[in-house]
Amino acid sequence: MTKLLVVATGNPGKLREMQAYLANSGWELTLKPEELEIEETGDTFAENACLKASEVAQATGQWAIADDSGLQVDALNGAPGVYSARYGTTDAERIARLLRELDHKTNRQAQFVCVIAIARPDGTIVLQSEGICRGEILHVPRGAGGFGYDPVFYVPEQQLTFAEMTKELKGSISHRGQALQALIPQLKTILHQE
Ligand code: IMP
Repeated sequence: MTKLLVVATGNPGKLREMQAYLANSGWELTLKPEELEIEETGDTFAENACLKASEVAQATGQWAIADDSGLQVDALNGAPGVYSARYGTTDAERIARLLRELDHKTNRQAQFVCVIAIARPDGTIVLQSEGICRGEILHVPRGAGGFGYDPVFYVPEQQLTFAEMTKELKGSISHRGQALQALIPQLKTILHQE
């Protein structure tokens, strides 16, 4: 038995990434309808993930999955946080602003956070999962892979930035990877229960 799970994103890359993680979960993932736009009005990653999953589920009448993620920097009291995507208009601008704000700070500790929520077709939230990956913000970008803040996010255990890692390595330790992995057993259970 398979059930349809609508991914609350318009980004085919995000769909492919989730499909790869959840390949053996028994669920069939699909993109949300293009015209369905949901504003991220929440103050937390969890609020945004839940509201996106819930609204897409209600609008489509299907199970829905949504994620919200961002970078929290200790010396900036958790900024940019839920505003990570809105911190500038391009990745280069967002990184430049982050490095400016951290200019004289010695504490470079930071973390990526991802919250994933799953809603039933009636919009009620049935599952939530959070993944955290800690690291440090470099002074100068390094590496050409990934996206967003990857070139300045350094993971000491690997001695690499996210942008220097293979897709597989980043996926195995990243905030999003951890949040998705944690969901698999529960998704399998739901498939057989509901
Ligand atoms: P959203 O979860 O799609 O709303 O994205 C939030 C923003 O956080 C992205 O636009 C990126 O700027 C940043 N972000 C989230 N995850 C990552 C990551 O794995 N690497 C780099 N930046 C990320």
